[in-house]
Amino acid sequence: MFDHQRLEAVGTEGEAPVSEPERQYYYMKKCREWAGQEAVRAGHSLTMSIQTLGCQMNAKDSEKITAIMEYIGYQETGEPVADFVLFNTCTVRENANMKIYGRLGFLKNQKKKNPRMKIALCGCMMQEADEVEKIRKSYPFVDLVFGTHNIYKLAELLYIQIQSDRPVVDVWEEAQEIVEDLPGKRKYPFKTGVNIMYGCNNFCSYCIVPYVRGRERSREPEEILREVRGLVEDGVVEIMLLGQNVNSYGKTLEKKISFAQLLRQVNGIPGLQRIRFMTSHPKDLSDELIAAMAECDKVCTHLHLPLQSGSTKILEKMNRRYTKEGYLELVSRIRERLPELSLTTDIIVGFPGETEEDFLDTLDVVRRVRYDSAYTFIYSKRSGTPAAAMEDQVPEETVRERFARLLKEIQAISAEITDSRVGQTVPVLMEEINAQDSTLITGRLSNNAVVHCKTDASQIGRILPVKLMESRGFYYMGEVADQP
Ligand code: 5AD
Ligand code: SF4
Repeated sequence: MFDHQRLEAVGTEGEAPVSEPERQYYYMKKCREWAGQEAVRAGHSLTMSIQTLGCQMNAKDSEKITAIMEYIGYQETGEPVADFVLFNTCTVRENANMKIYGRLGFLKNQKKKNPRMKIALCGCMMQEADEVEKIRKSYPFVDLVFGTHNIYKLAELLYIQIQSDRPVVDVWEEAQEIVEDLPGKRKYPFKTGVNIMYGCNNFCSYCIVPYVRGRERSREPEEILREVRGLVEDGVVEIMLLGQNVNSYGKTLEKKISFAQLLRQVNGIPGLQRIRFMTSHPKDLSDELIAAMAECDKVCTHLHLPLQSGSTKILEKMNRRYTKEGYLELVSRIRERLPELSLTTDIIVGFPGETEEDFLDTLDVVRRVRYDSAYTFIYSKRSGTPAAAMEDQVPEETVRERFARLLKEIQAISAEITDSRVGQTVPVLMEEINAQDSTLITGRLSNNAVVHCKTDASQIGRILPVKLMESRGFYYMGEVADQP
């Protein structure tokens, strides 16, 4: 847990401390001194824009970055242009990379208008040597580049950049220590993600994550519980336990512990109301976890269980280590114990060698499982992964056609499931003012579905009973019910 007093105790005279997190506290203070003077020179308080692409992991990392930068003296404005602009990048699919280059082009001109502007890049794309090389050569106006393993060093790197006034690039190939006790700034005061592990050892053949996020490392359970307790004390009612494959949590720790055991311990924390987790690999989902989910009252009625493909042949080429039948059998075991559970998934269309028959297998699983919703992706070739070298890449037109068919199927099922709950009164966590209509508050059901209801902003952060009045395909319009 971050402790303000510990930070205050660190002085800025003399050399930087060697041990972490004190070393970063020292640099945060050094940067803060500089930022105070810079604001005077600029004639305004310093602003920042933290733009996050990709998954929950990146969202969590951005919360850490935001907190460090806020301490230094930058304020978030919600505008795309600011005195400090950072992109926390994703590289799971190629179009995410393209997006970054587009935005850098735009910022180049903005920086001409405001030479004080600092541009920083971090996240998964920065773990790719080719991309970093390209940025060094063709985007020299980028001031700071760091990777996924050294986010905690942001203040130190920024300080070096300020002192030298030259681009600073620091990307580590491998993770080193897990640095605890840095500050975090939550996007929502009442809910947040909690990392339980980093990296991935699965090497699905299409996926770049194991190369950019490194090997699997679990956090000590005591650290996780300490963090969650602290968050609850600070007003958090919902947490999402985060890991690339939470089902293999604990395997790398000296004192072995399973994810199911961790879940039970987190469930025991007084004051916490909802627990979610992300992501589960089907090959590692144990009966022990199913039992824990059934018995832990705070665990939400939602499981994200990526399918990727319904064809056993393609699953093998993807190195997923389960079959179509194995997946379906797992789903029936889960449903037997957890009949109320909503299942969601990820599906890739157009993996190399995917035939019409393979695709029909995917549709078949979709029809049998009946997902509440699904994220569908067109296969994207990521260089360095085994799938990139595979023959039989599927023609684009075929992929598009299959993608449209899959989407139609998923949407139809999703709408049926959503419709079937209309009329029920369910607990909803009120989360934010609706962006389109400020008289509505948007909330989430335990199963992660979204509902909009007429109530006021003072209810944000509370869990209220809501009657689901109307289904709009994949979300609801609801009314806050009288409380018992
Ligand atoms: N192409 C398309 N989709 C991918 N995903 C991961 N790698 C790729 C790729 N190369 C998808 C998977 C994963 C989700 C986060 O992104 O479905 O579950
Ligand atoms: Fe990528 Fe597979 Fe690891 Fe998920 S489990 S991050 S898809 S390699």
